[in-house]
Formats: sequence, structure tokens, C-alpha cells
Amino acid sequence: MADPTVRAPLGMLIELTHRCPLHCPYCSNPLELVRRSEELTREQWSDILTQARELGVVQMHFSGGEPLARPDLPDLVGHARQLGAYVNLVTSGVGLTADRARDLAERGVDHVQLSLQDADPALGDEIAGARVHAAKLKAADAVTAAGLPLTVNVVLHRRNIDRVERIVDLAVGLGADRIELANTQYYGWGLRNRAALMPTRDQLAAAHQAVRRARAKHEGGPELVYVAADYYDDRPKPCMDGWGNTQLTVTPTGDVLPCPAASAITTLPVENVLRRPLSEIWYDSKAFNAYRGTGWMRDPCRTCPERNTDHGGCRCQAFQLTGDAAATDPACGLSPHRSLVDAALAEVTDGPAPAFVLRGPVAP
Ligand code: SF4
Ligand code: FES
Repeated sequence: MADPTVRAPLGMLIELTHRCPLHCPYCSNPLELVRRSEELTREQWSDILTQARELGVVQMHFSGGEPLARPDLPDLVGHARQLGAYVNLVTSGVGLTADRARDLAERGVDHVQLSLQDADPALGDEIAGARVHAAKLKAADAVTAAGLPLTVNVVLHRRNIDRVERIVDLAVGLGADRIELANTQYYGWGLRNRAALMPTRDQLAAAHQAVRRARAKHEGGPELVYVAADYYDDRPKPCMDGWGNTQLTVTPTGDVLPCPAASAITTLPVENVLRRPLSEIWYDSKAFNAYRGTGWMRDPCRTCPERNTDHGGCRCQAFQLTGDAAATDPACGLSPHRSLVDAALAEVTDGPAPAFVLRGPVAP
């Protein structure tokens, strides 16, 4: 029986494919990537978009992997537009020519979120594991030339966090309307590279100052969002604004997840949209109801005054670090497992960081 207090989802992350021309060490996609031959067809995706709109989804985020790797992306964007959804394209920019950007704008893309790895071309290419930096700059030009609003998104970590101001200068120069600097979250492949990616405490303190200076320098310019590193905080992030609260994710095979990283929770009874309607999965499935609200919480969250604000932190992080998705997020200073996070922090020294392992390509 559906809980009458559960609201319709606002947004859906549409992972069209796991294929990607980049090999980022912080990739939050699962260790096992979906093969091309297992991806849903255009017809199946069209039906999912229709179901999502009927369910109440108003924001559709086309993502991946690299969504441009799917030749049917323009058709699916057109379908989303016909349904009346706001369409966001989340892309590496590789392959986003001026013609493609114009076509996608005409079909219905409302906004583009473009990733950059660094301000320095050689380091950007090194972090991406591919020579893509120059193509990304061209893609940014293509987006603005097509009249689309642009968000530049940069994942921060030990190798690039010292260049925050140069990164912001570059993004402003590219015409970004919004700049998002997000410290790495350690999921999927990124967790494997955690020791190589974690910044030092001094780097983080310097980055906070750099963000402050960049905001002052570009006052009146693009919105600058900085997502803090929760391992270094005493309280966890309010992940996903609460489990099964506002967003859902559909993977390249049609698995429906309460958050993009939730396939890491191996105890979660994940359902697939090819076997059950999307609305039933949203309202009635065990996976979506498992950590909704506060009823599932144990102490210390159960009686904590902050439980309705941070929702007990992140379920995926709790599972990955403790093996129990219902545990308090170990990033919380009140968690009985906080020592797991402190141990990871203790490994971060001022000496050279370990080399990161680039992500390999999707198997054919
Ligand atoms: Fe949040 Fe739970 Fe920590 Fe309280 S104990 S601050 S609800 S994670
Ligand atoms: Fe899955 Fe936080 S990333 S709940």
C-alpha cells in the first residue's frame, strides 16, 4: 500500500549508456559497467520517458556515461520536449559540435552541464585519461553559440584542487552561467581511488579561501556553487535530499534506483522498469521505501534533532563503509563508525599521493 505522504518525483536521471570517451579516476558509476549490447532501445526509453512524465517528473537529465554516444539522443530529447519536460544534457562535451548543439537546442535541450577536469590542458587530459580538454572548450563555445545556458561542472580532488581560481576564470571565460565545484564523492570507481583523490586538510583550507576570492572577483557573474568534502566535516551531506524523496535514476538496462550510486548497495532489491511500471516502483517498491522518511533509522539518528535535515546522511556511503545501508553515515561525528572515515583521513599525508587508476572502457 503506497504511503500517501510520498510525493511525485521532481527529476529523473536518464543514464542512456555507460560508454564514455573519458576514463576519470573519480567516476561514480559502478565497477561493472553495462555493455552496449545490454542497453535499452530507443523505443524502451521513449516509453520510460512517457511513464516518467505521467508520474509527475518535470526535469529530465540525459546522462551516462556520455549520452552523445547514443545516436538516438536527439529523438529522445525531442520526445521529452513533446512531453513538456525541462531537458538537461549532462555531457563531457566530446562530440558536441556546433551543429549537434544547435540541433539538440532545436529538439528541446534547455540546459547543458559540461564537465571539465582542470584549467590546465595537459592536466585536464591526464585526469580524463584522454586528449579531450581542447574539445571541451570547443563544446562550451558550441553550447553558448546555440543560445543554451551552460553549467560548468568540475570534480575537485588532490590533483586539481590547488587551481580553483584558474578553473573559475576559465569557466567564466567560457560563458558559464553557473559553475559547480564539487569535491569528490567516493562511490563506484571513485572509492577504489580514494587514497589518490583525497585532498590534504591544507589543500581544502586553501580551496575555501580560493573560492571566496573567486566569488569576490566575479561578483555579479555566474553563480558559483562549492560542494564541500564531507569526510572533513563533522556532519554528513543531506544526500539526495532524502532517499526516494525527489529524484530517481534509470540505468542503461532499465534498473530504477533511488540514487545514481545505489547499485553499490548489494542488499537492495532493485527493480527494473521492463518488469514493473515506473509509478509502482516509485511508490510501492521495497527499494524506494527502504530508507524513506525517518522510520528506518536507528540510534543515534533515530532521536537526533538533525534527522529531518540531513536524513541520516548517505545510504550508499553507509553501506560501502560499514556493510549496512541503515547505519548512520560514518561521515557524521556522532556515528559509531566515524573511525572508518578518520582512518581514511589519517592516510592522507603531505607526501606524494598514490597514483590513481584510470577507468577502463566499457566491454563491447
Ligand atoms: Fe544526521 Fe544521524 Fe548524524 Fe544526527 S546522528 S547528525 S541525523 S547522521
Ligand atoms: Fe546513494 Fe547518497 S549516493 S544515498
